[in-house]
Amino acid sequence: MSKLPTFHLEDYLSAREFSAPFMLGGSDSETHSLGEILDLADPESKEIWDKLSLHYTEPYGMPVLLEEIASLYGDAITGSNILSFAGAEEGIYCLCHALLDPSDHAIAVTPCYQSLESVPSSLCEVTKVGLDETESWELNIDRVIKEIQPRTKLLLINYPHNPTGAILTKAQQGQLIEIARTNDLWIFSDEVYRYLEFEPSDRLPTMASIYEKGISLGVMSKSFGLPGLRVGWIAAQNQHLLAEMSNVKHYLSICNSAPSEVLSLIALRGQDKILARNLDIIQSNIALLDSFFLDYFDFFEWTRPKGGCIGFSKIKGQWSSDVFAEKLLSAKGVLVVPDSVFDFNGNYFRVGFGRKNMPQALRLVRDFIEEEMKFKW
Ligand SMILES: Cc1ncc(COP(=O)(O)O)c(C=O)c1O
Repeated sequence: MSKLPTFHLEDYLSAREFSAPFMLGGSDSETHSLGEILDLADPESKEIWDKLSLHYTEPYGMPVLLEEIASLYGDAITGSNILSFAGAEEGIYCLCHALLDPSDHAIAVTPCYQSLESVPSSLCEVTKVGLDETESWELNIDRVIKEIQPRTKLLLINYPHNPTGAILTKAQQGQLIEIARTNDLWIFSDEVYRYLEFEPSDRLPTMASIYEKGISLGVMSKSFGLPGLRVGWIAAQNQHLLAEMSNVKHYLSICNSAPSEVLSLIALRGQDKILARNLDIIQSNIALLDSFFLDYFDFFEWTRPKGGCIGFSKIKGQWSSDVFAEKLLSAKGVLVVPDSVFDFNGNYFRVGFGRKNMPQALRLVRDFIEEEMKFKW
């Protein structure tokens, strides 16, 4: 077992995001205030909130919350198939530590949210299957098949995808499950951007509900825009795996924050309003980005995301994406995320379009291009 490497994305963001006036590289939807969430409370959850005492909570999560989470899945998943965590991050850590031994092998799709590759790599050998913009960021399933070895135990995927916004088709998802079944693989499916598909018909079934060795990761942070709650979960049909993950969790958070569990319950019961508001912001922001990239096609390449609230654009010309990001931040106070933090190095940067103030941030990028880039290209 090796030490975990520097988490480049979180490192980059933590040094900048709390002082940058405009976050244009963020990976979450617009958030809500505590008061707005409490206003959504139905009588039962309001009473739970008012009477809440601040003792330890159930290690798997408050039962009423687990039932609410389970209702996001198909019939194969009930409250007893859910284990909650401190964010999605803890779920990734617990899953990998519960499942992987040094003699195992895993396959991760890259670029990706770093822990989907770094955590399994600290435990066993991991083969990366790279995505390519010339293939519209689509997963090349033949490449996945080619990398399977007799000791391969786990395939890690994430759709809608961070950072490209790509989505598998249902046929591709079915193909992956068939391949996994044939080779006795677990599929860990990071579904933190589920519900933010631009076309509802692109929404995939949850992996845990359709594959007996499928593991679905969900969270309040991204589609619901409530990362400060730090509540995530894993859904899986396999009880033994859930128990193994719960054991790892005993060494970490032990249980969730009690107020956060109740607030998550309220938010999930009010999900229609929250998701409709977030999708509205995203749909109007993506239209602005489309015209921005059309106006400045000399400077950038852009493959339109299909879901989520982030995309990956390539900068053309002499500046690297690191230089572009640093100059944009110092000149206009707008933060984007260069692909070096994704260990990608193709001159891409991540743009986030979940926030309400994205139009102002984009106007500043336009000013930056007109003032700084046009002359120096
Ligand atoms: C794809 C993906 N999975 C998991 C996480 C971790 O989420 P959380 O901050 O809720 O722990 C992130 C955060 O950016 C992410 O983008």
